[in-house]
Amino acid sequence: MATRPSPLTPVDRLTEEQAAAELKRLARLIGEHDRRYYQEDAPTVTDAEYDALRQRNNEIEARFPELIRKDSPSQRVGAAPARGFKKVRHAVPMLSLDNAFSDEDVAEFAERVMRFLKLADMPAFTAEPKIDGLSMSLRYENGELVTGATRGDGEEGEDVTANVKTLDDIPHKLKGRGLPEIVEVRGEVYMTHDNFLKLNKRQAEADEPVYANPRNSAAGSLRQKDPSITASRNLKFFAYGWGEMSDMPAETQSGMMEWIDARGFRINPLLKTCKSVEAMLKVYRDIEERRAKLGYDIDGVVYKLDRLDWQTRLGFISRSPRWAIAHKFPAEKATTVVNGIDIQVGRTGALTPVAKLEPVTVGGVVVSNATLHNEDEIARKDVRIGDTVTIQRAGDVIPQVLGVVLEKRPKSAKPYKFPDTCPVCGSHAVREEGEAVRRCTGGLICPAQQVERLRHFVSRDAFDIEGLGEKQVQAFYAEGLIMEPADIFTLEQRNRRARRKLEEREGYGETSVRNLFAAIEQRRRIPLNKLIYALGIRHVGEGNAKLLARHYGDLDAFLDGMMAAGKGHASEAWQELNDIGGIGEVVADAVAEFFKEKKNREALDRLLDEIEVEPMEQARSDSPVAGKTVVFTGALEKMTRNEAKAQAERLGAKVSGSVSKKTDLVVAGPGAGSKLADAQKFGVKVLSEDEWIALAG
Ligand code: IVH
Repeated sequence: MATRPSPLTPVDRLTEEQAAAELKRLARLIGEHDRRYYQEDAPTVTDAEYDALRQRNNEIEARFPELIRKDSPSQRVGAAPARGFKKVRHAVPMLSLDNAFSDEDVAEFAERVMRFLKLADMPAFTAEPKIDGLSMSLRYENGELVTGATRGDGEEGEDVTANVKTLDDIPHKLKGRGLPEIVEVRGEVYMTHDNFLKLNKRQAEADEPVYANPRNSAAGSLRQKDPSITASRNLKFFAYGWGEMSDMPAETQSGMMEWIDARGFRINPLLKTCKSVEAMLKVYRDIEERRAKLGYDIDGVVYKLDRLDWQTRLGFISRSPRWAIAHKFPAEKATTVVNGIDIQVGRTGALTPVAKLEPVTVGGVVVSNATLHNEDEIARKDVRIGDTVTIQRAGDVIPQVLGVVLEKRPKSAKPYKFPDTCPVCGSHAVREEGEAVRRCTGGLICPAQQVERLRHFVSRDAFDIEGLGEKQVQAFYAEGLIMEPADIFTLEQRNRRARRKLEEREGYGETSVRNLFAAIEQRRRIPLNKLIYALGIRHVGEGNAKLLARHYGDLDAFLDGMMAAGKGHASEAWQELNDIGGIGEVVADAVAEFFKEKKNREALDRLLDEIEVEPMEQARSDSPVAGKTVVFTGALEKMTRNEAKAQAERLGAKVSGSVSKKTDLVVAGPGAGSKLADAQKFGVKVLSEDEWIALAG
């Protein structure tokens, strides 16, 4: 049996053979993680897990220096840059930082520096946040920005000059005179939490993949081929150092940072100079305390020896400077088990999946829920109940599931099936084409949406009930007095108890109650378009409500049309709905879905028992096309097809999509085909676009 070492075998007990095998495994593993992190922006392990692998690699190499491999992670930095951008060779390599995880590590670092330099007294160090973004090197020649390059493998990065030029924080020209001919400013490009959330919302709405965290989205935003996309992402930049300098304008780290600041960059406002280890640790704790409120991700504090001549003397060891160290915060990522997946229903009916987690501490906060964004995200990550997942908490942002630890998947775990009914009210939930979000269609009766729907129902452009604003709706709903629209109209007669309860409400005396009932009474008659608008059907605003009302004319025709349209795209009724000028498929589907839901129809019936619906003020009946059935075909040049349809309907015409014996007029533009032929066959009058305009005025 081969002596395969367990990763838990203490380093001092490894045989040489075992050490060699493990170094090989670590080289491959860390290389793989580097590639995922640097090139794909899709790490699959937490920073802490990654750090632990490197730590073990270093420890084994320290014990068996003769076994250090050429491909060892200690011998290189990062991974080769992603393809697609021009390569840039860094004049001065971009290296990385050694890590400290405890106060003792920091004290040891300071002692190491003193020992190396043979100092008797503690030297000064700067301390500043370690920004969790991506490093960038900006090269200025004679004060002009010539190149912006990513770190890449430290030796060679990607040329993203056009993209970095779109960042407000990056000057195209350095401020001041008498500048060194060559100035390379280095720092971190990052995305704020606000912008990250906005971007992911846009991505989800457009059915594009959402980013796992601000760092990945900053990297993704910077690696765009089209700089205008980078510009729209609102990236930020903090300068923290420099690369090649043809002249050194200062003698200390802090002096250099002041100089860079004066050249027009942002340097981190939390940067401090410290004269003792205690002072360094105090900065660390201060920054850690402010971390959640900074609005951007940081993952530690970087200490740098202040005197530059001493930095030079200390130099570098393999991939990191001896004069600096990153004091990391405890990881804000963790792994835990998914106990269940809950579907939450938002005020607008959106179904959002939430992972119910075995509680776990992430960066000092107990987390038991994490968002899974939407249906596609669950499918993409293949998250199943029972899975062990990696979760991440960034600042105050809702924790999210990064991915599944597949090795830990229980055999019994089954792919998650997203529900197609609303978990709150049982109505069917639909997903529109091109939408990432599935929504409950039970608008009128779904408790999750009711308050929002009621608020809309009584709003100014709908039923416009004075004295029944958002606050009152909320309160009445909470007290069980008004649960659905019909309840508004039965409130008074329902019972005296309600009346007493109302009068007892603070600031809601007898007069207010009387006024409210009077206002409700006044709205028992309502025009059809206002009723349709008040129902709060998705995509049906005031304009579309008017189009519908005008087309069907009265309540009965409207309801008949809607019930029949629910039978699907093949039905004539759906076609008719779809053909209404200005309506179109998305709206037609949303309306049909609404009426397909029995619970909505029942709630509407209850409402209609209470109110009287006025037919829509008929479209003009004095126009030459009133009452006529019109078909548009071919290309229109002076208006869009939708405009033409809407105009015809305003004039009282009925617009149809197909020509039959019943058609009165066909308006044919260039390219008209079979419909024109049909018109000729049935002897229907044909007009050109200009003739139509002349007729319609
Ligand atoms: S100083 C020789 N200061 O951390 C390297 N780095 O692990 C000197 N970083 O690639 C780096 N904030 O992208 C420095 N305030 C800061 C930083 C910072 C973030 C990143 C940087 C670097 C990585 C090192």
